[in-house]
Amino acid sequence: MSVTHVSAAAADADVLRRQDPEMAEILLGEATRQASTLQLIAAENFCSPAVLAALGSVLANKYAEGYPGARHHGGCEIVDVAERLAVERAKRLFGAEHANVQSHSGSSAVLAAYAALLRPGDTVLALGLTHGGHLTHGSPANFSGRWFDFVPYGVDAETGLIDHKQVRTLARSHRPKAIVCGSISYPRHVDHAFFRAVADEVGAYLIADAAHPIGLVAGGAAPSPVPYADIVCATTHKVLRGPRGGMLLCGGELAERVDRAVFPFTQAGAQMHTIAAKAVAFGEASTEAFAAYAHQVVANARVLAARLAEEGLAVTTGGTDTHLITFDPAPLGVEGRSARGLLAAAGIVLDCCALPHADVRGLRLGTAAVTTQGMREEEMAGVGALIAGVLRGRVEAKRAREEVRELAAAFPPYPG
Ligand SMILES: Cc1ncc(COP(=O)(O)O)c(C=O)c1O
Repeated sequence: MSVTHVSAAAADADVLRRQDPEMAEILLGEATRQASTLQLIAAENFCSPAVLAALGSVLANKYAEGYPGARHHGGCEIVDVAERLAVERAKRLFGAEHANVQSHSGSSAVLAAYAALLRPGDTVLALGLTHGGHLTHGSPANFSGRWFDFVPYGVDAETGLIDHKQVRTLARSHRPKAIVCGSISYPRHVDHAFFRAVADEVGAYLIADAAHPIGLVAGGAAPSPVPYADIVCATTHKVLRGPRGGMLLCGGELAERVDRAVFPFTQAGAQMHTIAAKAVAFGEASTEAFAAYAHQVVANARVLAARLAEEGLAVTTGGTDTHLITFDPAPLGVEGRSARGLLAAAGIVLDCCALPHADVRGLRLGTAAVTTQGMREEEMAGVGALIAGVLRGRVEAKRAREEVRELAAAFPPYPG
Protein backbone atom coordinates (compact mmCIF):
# COMPACT_ATOMS: atom_id res chain seq x y z
CA MET A 1 0.00 0.00 0.00
CA SER A 2 1.47 3.35 -0.96
CA VAL A 3 1.64 6.05 1.69
CA THR A 4 -0.58 8.51 -0.17
CA HIS A 5 -3.34 5.97 -0.72
CA VAL A 6 -4.07 5.39 2.91
CA SER A 7 -5.26 8.72 4.25
CA ALA A 8 -4.68 12.38 4.71
CA ALA A 9 -2.82 11.53 7.91
CA ALA A 10 -0.53 9.26 5.95
CA ALA A 11 0.24 12.06 3.51
CA ASP A 12 1.91 13.75 6.45
CA ALA A 13 3.96 10.61 6.79
CA ASP A 14 5.55 11.47 3.41
CA VAL A 15 6.97 14.63 4.97
CA LEU A 16 7.88 12.80 8.12
CA ARG A 17 9.44 9.86 6.36
CA ARG A 18 12.51 11.76 5.27
CA GLN A 19 13.14 13.26 8.67
CA ASP A 20 11.74 10.69 11.09
CA PRO A 21 11.01 7.39 9.37
CA GLU A 22 10.34 5.72 12.71
CA MET A 23 7.41 8.01 13.51
CA ALA A 24 6.26 8.02 9.87
CA GLU A 25 5.84 4.25 10.09
CA ILE A 26 3.76 4.61 13.23
CA LEU A 27 1.42 7.12 11.53
CA LEU A 28 1.10 4.89 8.53
CA GLY A 29 0.40 1.91 10.77
CA GLU A 30 -2.41 3.78 12.52
CA ALA A 31 -3.88 5.01 9.23
CA THR A 32 -3.88 1.42 7.98
CA ARG A 33 -5.46 0.16 11.20
CA GLN A 34 -8.22 2.77 10.96
CA ALA A 35 -8.88 1.96 7.32
CA SER A 36 -8.87 -1.82 7.63
CA THR A 37 -10.88 -2.39 10.83
CA LEU A 38 -14.36 -1.22 11.87
CA GLN A 39 -14.35 1.82 14.15
CA LEU A 40 -17.40 1.34 16.34
CA ILE A 41 -16.09 3.26 19.36
CA ALA A 42 -19.03 5.54 20.12
CA ALA A 43 -16.84 8.60 20.80
CA GLU A 44 -14.82 8.41 17.57
CA ASN A 45 -15.20 9.65 14.03
CA PHE A 46 -13.12 10.48 10.94
CA CYS A 47 -12.64 14.22 10.62
CA SER A 48 -12.30 15.65 7.14
CA PRO A 49 -9.01 16.38 5.34
CA ALA A 50 -9.87 20.10 5.72
CA VAL A 51 -10.12 19.72 9.51
CA LEU A 52 -6.85 17.77 9.53
CA ALA A 53 -5.25 20.51 7.41
CA ALA A 54 -6.19 23.19 9.94
CA LEU A 55 -4.93 21.00 12.77
CA GLY A 56 -1.59 20.48 11.09
CA SER A 57 -1.20 24.15 10.15
CA VAL A 58 1.19 26.92 11.25
CA LEU A 59 -1.45 28.06 13.74
CA ALA A 60 0.06 25.38 15.98
CA ASN A 61 3.04 27.72 16.39
CA LYS A 62 1.06 30.58 17.88
CA TYR A 63 0.70 31.46 21.56
CA ALA A 64 -2.57 33.25 22.25
CA GLU A 65 -3.52 33.55 25.91
CA GLY A 66 -6.72 35.50 26.41
CA TYR A 67 -9.53 36.26 24.00
CA PRO A 68 -9.68 38.01 20.60
CA GLY A 69 -8.80 41.68 21.05
CA ALA A 70 -7.51 41.06 24.59
CA ARG A 71 -4.51 38.75 24.34
CA HIS A 72 -1.47 38.49 26.52
CA HIS A 73 0.78 37.86 23.52
CA GLY A 74 1.68 39.93 20.49
CA GLY A 75 1.01 38.94 16.90
CA CYS A 76 -2.49 37.60 17.52
CA GLU A 77 -4.28 39.68 14.89
CA ILE A 78 -4.70 36.76 12.48
CA VAL A 79 -5.58 34.07 15.03
CA ASP A 80 -8.09 36.50 16.55
CA VAL A 81 -9.98 36.33 13.26
CA ALA A 82 -9.87 32.52 13.38
CA GLU A 83 -11.29 32.42 16.91
CA ARG A 84 -14.00 34.98 16.16
CA LEU A 85 -15.01 32.90 13.16
CA ALA A 86 -15.15 29.72 15.27
CA VAL A 87 -17.27 31.49 17.92
CA GLU A 88 -19.66 33.00 15.37
CA ARG A 89 -20.10 29.68 13.59
CA ALA A 90 -20.72 27.83 16.87
CA LYS A 91 -23.30 30.42 17.97
CA ARG A 92 -25.11 30.22 14.65
CA LEU A 93 -24.97 26.43 14.46
CA PHE A 94 -26.45 25.91 17.92
CA GLY A 95 -28.55 29.07 18.26
CA ALA A 96 -26.58 30.09 21.36
CA GLU A 97 -26.05 33.64 22.60
CA HIS A 98 -22.48 32.84 23.62
CA ALA A 99 -19.86 30.22 22.72
CA ASN A 100 -16.43 29.53 24.16
CA VAL A 101 -14.36 27.35 21.85
CA GLN A 102 -11.09 27.26 23.81
CA SER A 103 -11.55 24.23 26.06
CA HIS A 104 -8.83 21.71 25.29
CA SER A 105 -11.15 18.76 25.85
CA GLY A 106 -14.61 17.75 26.93
CA SER A 107 -13.36 17.30 30.49
CA SER A 108 -11.91 20.81 30.59
CA ALA A 109 -15.22 22.16 29.32
CA VAL A 110 -17.04 20.41 32.20
CA LEU A 111 -14.43 21.69 34.66
CA ALA A 112 -15.00 25.23 33.35
CA ALA A 113 -18.78 24.87 33.67
CA TYR A 114 -18.37 23.83 37.32
CA ALA A 115 -15.86 26.64 37.89
CA ALA A 116 -18.31 29.17 36.44
CA LEU A 117 -21.24 28.11 38.62
CA LEU A 118 -20.02 26.27 41.73
CA ARG A 119 -17.78 26.48 44.76
CA PRO A 120 -15.85 23.51 46.14
CA GLY A 121 -18.09 21.49 48.43
CA ASP A 122 -21.30 22.29 46.54
CA THR A 123 -23.78 19.49 45.95
CA VAL A 124 -24.31 18.34 42.37
CA LEU A 125 -26.85 15.83 41.06
CA ALA A 126 -25.61 13.78 38.10
CA LEU A 127 -26.11 10.40 36.45
CA GLY A 128 -24.17 7.82 38.48
CA LEU A 129 -21.01 6.46 36.89
CA THR A 130 -22.26 2.87 36.72
CA HIS A 131 -25.41 4.13 35.00
CA GLY A 132 -23.58 6.07 32.28
CA GLY A 133 -22.19 9.17 33.97
CA HIS A 134 -18.77 10.45 32.85
CA LEU A 135 -15.66 10.63 35.05
CA THR A 136 -16.32 14.35 35.39
CA HIS A 137 -19.74 13.62 36.89
CA GLY A 138 -18.39 12.71 40.31
CA SER A 139 -15.78 9.98 40.01
CA PRO A 140 -13.64 9.91 43.19
CA ALA A 141 -10.62 9.54 40.89
CA ASN A 142 -11.45 12.86 39.19
CA PHE A 143 -11.48 16.54 40.26
CA SER A 144 -15.27 16.39 40.19
CA GLY A 145 -15.58 13.74 42.89
CA ARG A 146 -12.87 15.29 45.01
CA TRP A 147 -14.07 18.89 44.94
CA PHE A 148 -17.85 18.53 44.86
CA ASP A 149 -20.42 16.50 46.70
CA PHE A 150 -22.04 14.42 43.96
CA VAL A 151 -25.37 12.72 44.43
CA PRO A 152 -25.99 10.10 41.74
CA TYR A 153 -29.31 9.43 40.04
CA GLY A 154 -29.83 6.35 37.94
CA VAL A 155 -31.76 4.55 35.25
CA ASP A 156 -34.75 2.31 35.85
CA ALA A 157 -33.77 -1.35 36.27
CA GLU A 158 -36.54 -2.56 33.94
CA THR A 159 -36.55 0.01 31.15
CA GLY A 160 -33.00 1.37 31.28
CA LEU A 161 -34.52 4.87 31.00
CA ILE A 162 -33.51 7.74 33.31
CA ASP A 163 -35.56 7.42 36.48
CA HIS A 164 -37.28 10.82 36.47
CA LYS A 165 -39.09 10.13 39.71
CA GLN A 166 -35.76 9.49 41.45
CA VAL A 167 -34.21 12.63 39.92
CA ARG A 168 -37.05 14.75 41.33
CA THR A 169 -36.96 13.07 44.75
CA LEU A 170 -33.17 13.44 45.08
CA ALA A 171 -33.31 17.05 43.91
CA ARG A 172 -35.96 17.87 46.51
CA SER A 173 -34.08 16.17 49.35
CA HIS A 174 -30.51 17.27 48.50
CA ARG A 175 -31.23 20.76 47.05
CA PRO A 176 -28.18 20.60 44.71
CA LYS A 177 -26.51 23.75 43.42
CA ALA A 178 -26.39 22.17 39.95
CA ILE A 179 -27.95 19.26 38.10
CA VAL A 180 -25.98 17.62 35.28
CA CYS A 181 -27.74 15.82 32.46
CA GLY A 182 -25.63 13.95 29.93
CA SER A 183 -23.93 10.59 29.66
CA ILE A 184 -21.27 8.54 27.98
CA SER A 185 -23.62 5.72 27.07
CA TYR A 186 -27.29 6.70 27.38
CA PRO A 187 -28.78 5.77 24.02
CA ARG A 188 -32.00 7.79 24.30
CA HIS A 189 -32.74 11.50 24.05
CA VAL A 190 -32.49 13.37 27.32
CA ASP A 191 -35.69 15.18 28.33
CA HIS A 192 -34.17 18.64 28.81
CA ALA A 193 -37.52 20.26 29.64
CA PHE A 194 -37.93 17.81 32.54
CA PHE A 195 -34.46 18.57 33.91
CA ARG A 196 -35.07 22.31 33.53
CA ALA A 197 -38.31 22.05 35.47
CA VAL A 198 -36.66 20.11 38.32
CA ALA A 199 -33.71 22.53 38.41
CA ASP A 200 -36.11 25.48 38.60
CA GLU A 201 -38.14 23.84 41.33
CA VAL A 202 -35.09 23.44 43.60
CA GLY A 203 -33.20 26.56 42.50
CA ALA A 204 -30.35 24.65 40.82
CA TYR A 205 -28.35 25.42 37.72
CA LEU A 206 -28.77 22.99 34.84
CA ILE A 207 -25.59 21.85 33.10
CA ALA A 208 -26.06 19.75 29.97
CA ASP A 209 -23.00 17.66 29.17
CA ALA A 210 -23.86 17.03 25.54
CA ALA A 211 -20.44 15.66 24.56
CA HIS A 212 -22.06 12.73 22.74
CA PRO A 213 -25.21 14.06 21.07
CA ILE A 214 -23.96 17.56 20.15
CA GLY A 215 -23.16 16.47 16.57
CA LEU A 216 -26.67 15.07 16.21
CA VAL A 217 -28.00 18.36 17.59
CA ALA A 218 -25.97 20.24 14.94
CA GLY A 219 -27.53 18.11 12.23
CA GLY A 220 -31.07 18.42 13.59
CA ALA A 221 -31.17 14.72 14.52
CA ALA A 222 -31.47 15.21 18.29
CA PRO A 223 -33.20 17.82 20.49
CA SER A 224 -31.03 20.75 21.54
CA PRO A 225 -30.20 21.37 25.19
CA VAL A 226 -29.37 25.03 24.41
CA PRO A 227 -32.83 26.50 25.19
CA TYR A 228 -32.96 24.66 28.54
CA ALA A 229 -29.51 24.46 30.11
CA ASP A 230 -27.67 27.31 31.82
CA ILE A 231 -24.46 25.94 30.34
CA VAL A 232 -23.99 23.31 27.64
CA CYS A 233 -20.60 21.54 27.60
CA ALA A 234 -19.57 19.46 24.64
CA THR A 235 -16.76 17.79 22.78
CA THR A 236 -16.08 18.62 19.15
CA HIS A 237 -14.66 15.26 18.09
CA LYS A 238 -17.51 12.78 18.31
CA VAL A 239 -20.50 12.81 15.92
CA LEU A 240 -19.68 16.49 15.31
CA ARG A 241 -16.61 15.27 13.41
CA GLY A 242 -14.22 18.04 14.41
CA PRO A 243 -10.82 18.00 16.08
CA ARG A 244 -10.35 16.64 19.59
CA GLY A 245 -11.49 19.39 21.92
CA GLY A 246 -14.27 20.97 23.95
CA MET A 247 -16.61 23.94 23.90
CA LEU A 248 -19.21 25.67 26.03
CA LEU A 249 -22.48 27.35 25.07
CA CYS A 250 -24.54 29.63 27.29
CA GLY A 251 -26.76 32.68 27.45
CA GLY A 252 -25.34 36.21 27.40
CA GLU A 253 -25.69 36.67 31.17
CA LEU A 254 -23.22 33.85 31.91
CA ALA A 255 -20.84 34.66 29.05
CA GLU A 256 -18.26 36.49 31.11
CA ARG A 257 -18.27 33.91 33.92
CA VAL A 258 -17.83 31.07 31.44
CA ASP A 259 -15.01 32.83 29.61
CA ARG A 260 -13.18 33.57 32.86
CA ALA A 261 -13.71 29.98 34.00
CA VAL A 262 -11.93 28.74 30.85
CA PHE A 263 -9.19 31.38 30.82
CA PRO A 264 -7.53 32.19 33.17
CA PHE A 265 -9.11 29.79 35.68
CA THR A 266 -8.66 26.36 34.07
CA GLN A 267 -6.41 27.01 31.06
CA ALA A 268 -3.79 29.38 29.75
CA GLY A 269 -2.78 29.46 26.07
CA ALA A 270 -5.53 28.64 23.60
CA GLN A 271 -4.67 26.03 20.95
CA MET A 272 -5.22 28.09 17.85
CA HIS A 273 -4.76 25.26 15.33
CA THR A 274 -7.48 23.30 17.12
CA ILE A 275 -9.74 26.34 17.29
CA ALA A 276 -9.29 26.86 13.53
CA ALA A 277 -10.10 23.18 12.99
CA LYS A 278 -13.21 23.57 15.18
CA ALA A 279 -14.30 26.48 12.95
CA VAL A 280 -13.87 24.29 9.87
CA ALA A 281 -15.91 21.52 11.50
CA PHE A 282 -18.68 23.96 12.51
CA GLY A 283 -18.77 25.15 8.89
CA GLU A 284 -19.12 21.57 7.68
CA ALA A 285 -21.77 20.82 10.32
CA SER A 286 -23.97 23.68 9.11
CA THR A 287 -24.44 22.13 5.67
CA GLU A 288 -27.37 20.05 4.42
CA ALA A 289 -24.92 17.22 3.76
CA PHE A 290 -24.09 17.12 7.47
CA ALA A 291 -27.78 17.12 8.44
CA ALA A 292 -28.27 14.13 6.14
CA TYR A 293 -25.21 12.51 7.73
CA ALA A 294 -26.52 13.04 11.28
CA HIS A 295 -29.89 11.49 10.40
CA GLN A 296 -28.13 8.56 8.71
CA VAL A 297 -26.01 8.02 11.85
CA VAL A 298 -29.24 7.52 13.82
CA ALA A 299 -30.89 5.38 11.11
CA ASN A 300 -27.79 3.17 11.05
CA ALA A 301 -27.72 2.85 14.83
CA ARG A 302 -31.41 1.89 14.90
CA VAL A 303 -30.89 -0.87 12.34
CA LEU A 304 -27.78 -2.15 14.10
CA ALA A 305 -29.53 -2.14 17.51
CA ALA A 306 -32.54 -3.97 16.07
CA ARG A 307 -30.30 -6.57 14.47
CA LEU A 308 -28.35 -7.13 17.69
CA ALA A 309 -31.64 -7.54 19.58
CA GLU A 310 -32.91 -10.01 16.94
CA GLU A 311 -29.74 -11.99 17.45
CA GLY A 312 -30.61 -12.35 21.13
CA LEU A 313 -28.32 -9.72 22.64
CA ALA A 314 -29.76 -7.67 25.51
CA VAL A 315 -29.86 -4.16 24.03
CA THR A 316 -30.28 -1.53 26.79
CA THR A 317 -33.62 0.31 26.54
CA GLY A 318 -34.46 -2.01 23.62
CA GLY A 319 -32.92 0.29 21.02
CA THR A 320 -31.60 3.78 20.47
CA ASP A 321 -32.54 7.35 19.47
CA THR A 322 -28.93 8.32 18.84
CA HIS A 323 -25.61 7.01 17.52
CA LEU A 324 -25.09 5.01 20.73
CA ILE A 325 -25.95 1.41 21.51
CA THR A 326 -25.13 -0.53 24.66
CA PHE A 327 -25.82 -4.20 25.17
CA ASP A 328 -25.10 -7.18 27.36
CA PRO A 329 -23.58 -10.08 25.41
CA ALA A 330 -24.36 -12.53 28.27
CA PRO A 331 -27.34 -14.16 26.50
CA LEU A 332 -24.83 -15.47 23.94
CA GLY A 333 -22.76 -16.97 26.75
CA VAL A 334 -19.94 -14.44 26.78
CA GLU A 335 -19.07 -11.66 29.22
CA GLY A 336 -18.26 -8.07 28.12
CA ARG A 337 -14.46 -8.08 28.36
CA SER A 338 -14.06 -11.41 26.54
CA ALA A 339 -16.60 -10.24 23.96
CA ARG A 340 -14.56 -7.12 23.26
CA GLY A 341 -11.45 -9.28 22.82
CA LEU A 342 -13.20 -11.69 20.43
CA LEU A 343 -14.52 -8.79 18.36
CA ALA A 344 -11.15 -7.02 18.36
CA ALA A 345 -9.57 -10.18 16.91
CA ALA A 346 -12.10 -9.90 14.10
CA GLY A 347 -11.21 -6.22 13.53
CA ILE A 348 -14.39 -4.89 15.15
CA VAL A 349 -13.24 -2.15 17.52
CA LEU A 350 -15.58 -1.12 20.33
CA ASP A 351 -15.61 -0.48 24.08
CA CYS A 352 -16.77 -2.17 27.24
CA CYS A 353 -19.13 -0.22 29.46
CA ALA A 354 -20.76 -0.49 32.84
CA LEU A 355 -24.21 -2.05 32.79
CA PRO A 356 -26.63 -0.50 35.28
CA HIS A 357 -28.00 -2.94 37.84
CA ALA A 358 -25.52 -5.67 36.84
CA ASP A 359 -22.12 -6.82 38.05
CA VAL A 360 -20.90 -7.67 34.58
CA ARG A 361 -19.51 -5.41 31.86
CA GLY A 362 -21.45 -4.74 28.68
CA LEU A 363 -20.45 -3.41 25.28
CA ARG A 364 -20.89 0.10 23.94
CA LEU A 365 -20.71 1.06 20.30
CA GLY A 366 -21.64 3.90 17.97
CA THR A 367 -22.25 4.49 14.29
CA ALA A 368 -20.63 7.92 13.74
CA ALA A 369 -17.41 6.71 12.10
CA VAL A 370 -18.85 3.96 9.90
CA THR A 371 -21.53 6.39 8.68
CA THR A 372 -18.84 8.91 7.73
CA GLN A 373 -17.35 6.08 5.66
CA GLY A 374 -20.66 5.87 3.78
CA MET A 375 -22.08 2.70 5.31
CA ARG A 376 -25.85 2.49 5.49
CA GLU A 377 -28.62 0.25 6.84
CA GLU A 378 -27.66 -2.77 4.74
CA GLU A 379 -24.08 -2.75 6.01
CA MET A 380 -25.29 -2.22 9.60
CA ALA A 381 -27.50 -5.30 9.43
CA GLY A 382 -24.48 -7.24 8.18
CA VAL A 383 -22.28 -5.88 10.97
CA GLY A 384 -24.92 -6.86 13.57
CA ALA A 385 -25.06 -10.40 12.20
CA LEU A 386 -21.27 -10.61 12.15
CA ILE A 387 -20.97 -9.41 15.78
CA ALA A 388 -23.45 -12.07 16.87
CA GLY A 389 -21.73 -14.73 14.75
CA VAL A 390 -18.36 -13.97 16.33
CA LEU A 391 -19.77 -13.90 19.87
CA ARG A 392 -21.60 -17.20 19.32
CA GLY A 393 -18.40 -18.72 17.99
CA ARG A 394 -20.18 -19.54 14.73
CA VAL A 395 -17.96 -17.33 12.57
CA GLU A 396 -14.33 -18.17 12.94
CA ALA A 397 -12.08 -15.17 13.78
CA LYS A 398 -10.07 -15.48 10.57
CA ARG A 399 -13.14 -15.45 8.36
CA ALA A 400 -14.69 -12.57 10.33
CA ARG A 401 -11.45 -10.60 10.02
CA GLU A 402 -11.51 -11.14 6.27
CA GLU A 403 -15.14 -9.98 6.04
CA VAL A 404 -14.29 -6.85 8.04
CA ARG A 405 -11.29 -6.14 5.85
CA GLU A 406 -13.44 -6.38 2.71
CA LEU A 407 -16.19 -4.19 4.15
CA ALA A 408 -13.73 -1.53 5.34
CA ALA A 409 -11.96 -1.56 1.98
CA ALA A 410 -15.28 -0.90 0.21
CA PHE A 411 -15.81 2.23 2.38
CA PRO A 412 -12.42 3.91 2.77
CA PRO A 413 -12.47 6.74 5.35
CA TYR A 414 -10.22 8.87 3.14
CA PRO A 415 -10.90 7.84 -0.46
CA GLY A 416 -8.61 8.80 -3.30
C1 LIG B 1 -20.43 12.93 28.52
C2 LIG B 1 -18.98 13.21 28.38
N1 LIG B 1 -18.43 14.24 29.06
C3 LIG B 1 -17.14 14.54 28.97
C4 LIG B 1 -16.29 13.82 28.15
C5 LIG B 1 -14.83 14.16 28.16
O1 LIG B 1 -14.27 14.44 26.95
P1 LIG B 1 -12.66 14.37 26.78
O2 LIG B 1 -12.31 12.94 26.64
O3 LIG B 1 -12.43 15.19 25.55
O4 LIG B 1 -12.06 14.99 28.00
C6 LIG B 1 -16.80 12.74 27.42
C7 LIG B 1 -15.91 11.95 26.56
O5 LIG B 1 -16.20 10.91 26.06
C8 LIG B 1 -18.18 12.43 27.53
O6 LIG B 1 -18.72 11.42 26.86
